Amino acid sequence: MDFEYVKHNDLIIYYKIYDLEFYFTKEDSFLLNDHIREFAKNKKVLDIGCGSGIQGLEAYKYTKNVSFSDISEECLKLSKINFYINYIHNNPDLDYLYKNIEKINLPIKFYQSDLFSNINEKFDLILFNPTYLPEVSYKV
Ligand SMILES: C[S@@+](CC[C@H](N)C(=O)[O-])C[C@H]1O[C@@H](n2cnc3c(N)ncnc32)[C@H](O)[C@@H]1O
Repeated sequence: MDFEYVKHNDLIIYYKIYDLEFYFTKEDSFLLNDHIREFAKNKKVLDIGCGSGIQGLEAYKYTKNVSFSDISEECLKLSKINFYINYIHNNPDLDYLYKNIEKINLPIKFYQSDLFSNINEKFDLILFNPTYLPEVSYKV
């Protein structure tokens, strides 16, 4: 399968687009996601370790001031595509998006960063569902 996604809280979350593969989004992500509405309204939000972008995408319902960050370039690309699908155009040509997402201007910031090493802003709310499976190492 080239494309795989889940739906949660009216969001469409792709976790696989060709070689962009993120771990199957499941209970831990959904649990955090279900509580974002209680905290995010009108806040300046950072989704750190954004993965597929699921947490920041939920926060974007309540504030447009959301930034995404991850140590992984692939995760950032996936988050950009998921942002596009959820907030710009919900039935896109996925192959075109996969090839062109880096050329498309999105109205939010994405940081490639090891935790806060490349982030020099302050936020009201920081969402983090941290890594708990020690299986991959990254180069930044
Ligand atoms: C458990 S996943 C959570 C993904 C998503 N936020 C969610 O809730 O489904 C952890 C994420 O943290 C990222 N990550 C791991 N180490 C990191 C680091 N040092 N700095 C930033 N992100 C990191 C991983 O690439 C992965 O996307």
